[in-house]
Formats: sequence, structure tokens, C-alpha cells
Amino acid sequence: MATRVHQVEKAFLLLGGLILVAFLFALFFASFAMGIHLPGKVEHGIIDPAQARTTPPFDRPGVWRNDSGGYDAVLRGEMWRFIPAELVVPAGEEITFIATSPDVIHGLHVEDTRINMMLIPGQVARNTYTFREPGTYQMVCHEYCGPAHHTMYGNIVVVPSEEFEARRATDEAGNREEGR
Ligand code: CUA
Repeated sequence: MATRVHQVEKAFLLLGGLILVAFLFALFFASFAMGIHLPGKVEHGIIDPAQARTTPPFDRPGVWRNDSGGYDAVLRGEMWRFIPAELVVPAGEEITFIATSPDVIHGLHVEDTRINMMLIPGQVARNTYTFREPGTYQMVCHEYCGPAHHTMYGNIVVVPSEEFEARRATDEAGNREEGR
């Protein structure tokens, strides 16, 4: 009986060890072979968080045409709001979200999308997404950032691209910095 217990224990130890090795392998594979890491590594840019409000592109939050044929959606996550709190973007175009924080760690999650970023002070986070369907998508801060964390949310308003162009022509809609 005692030997049987030993055998079972050995098998479990072996299994546990193998799982550990598999996880370590997955970790190294993800970080070195696939290049998965925290947002804002050097190639994405590091800025002085104290100067985030005056450092390009964060001195002009909003939606702007970029060189790769899509749009940049530039925003800042600050205690306790997104600036701007509403972004109007065209459907069917590639949107590159570029965001940072001047104060503490915030999150940026856009519902029903895979936009899910950490906004770390001084680090520039980027993520691209193409909205297929017009509509209003809520963005929320999903990192606890202080007493008013739960009030930190905003909207991404996705409009058909013709409507977007029309709005743009009349008044740079959605591009004004709100407050501050
Ligand atoms: Cu910002 Cu929670």
C-alpha cells in the first residue's frame, strides 16, 4: 500500500513539474519569439509623464489622419477622465489608438472590441482596431486609479465614413479637447 501511495505522489510531482516547465516555456516563447510585452516598450516611445499634456501627439488629443492611410485616435487617461471623453471615428477604417497617462496607471478598454490597454505614466500605448459597425462603444478605465475610478469612462462614436467626412468638413467634430 505504501509503495502505491509513493507511486501516485511521484506521478503527481512529475505532472506538476511538467506543467511548470510548459508554463515557463510558454512565457519565454511569448516574450522572445512572439514579442509580447508591456505596452510602451522603447520602440513605442517613452515620454516624461509630467510633460504629457504638452508632448506631441498628446497635446492634440483627438482623431487625426495618419500616414498609413488610417486614423490616429489620440487620448490621455487622467484622474479621472479620458481626454477627450468622446471620440468620433469612421467605420471601416483602421484606427490606431495612442494613449498615455500623466499621473497614475489607468486602463483603457473599449467594449465589444479587443482594445484593452494599460496606460502607464510616461509610456505610450498603441493598439489598432477597425470598427465594422457604426454605433456608440463605451470606453472604461479598468485599472483602479483612485477614489473616482468608477466615474472614468467615455464614448467612442463610430459613424459611417461619409458621415465622418461630412462632420469633419463642417467642424472637426469630436476633436476639441473638453475642459482644461
Ligand atoms: Cu483611471 Cu481607473
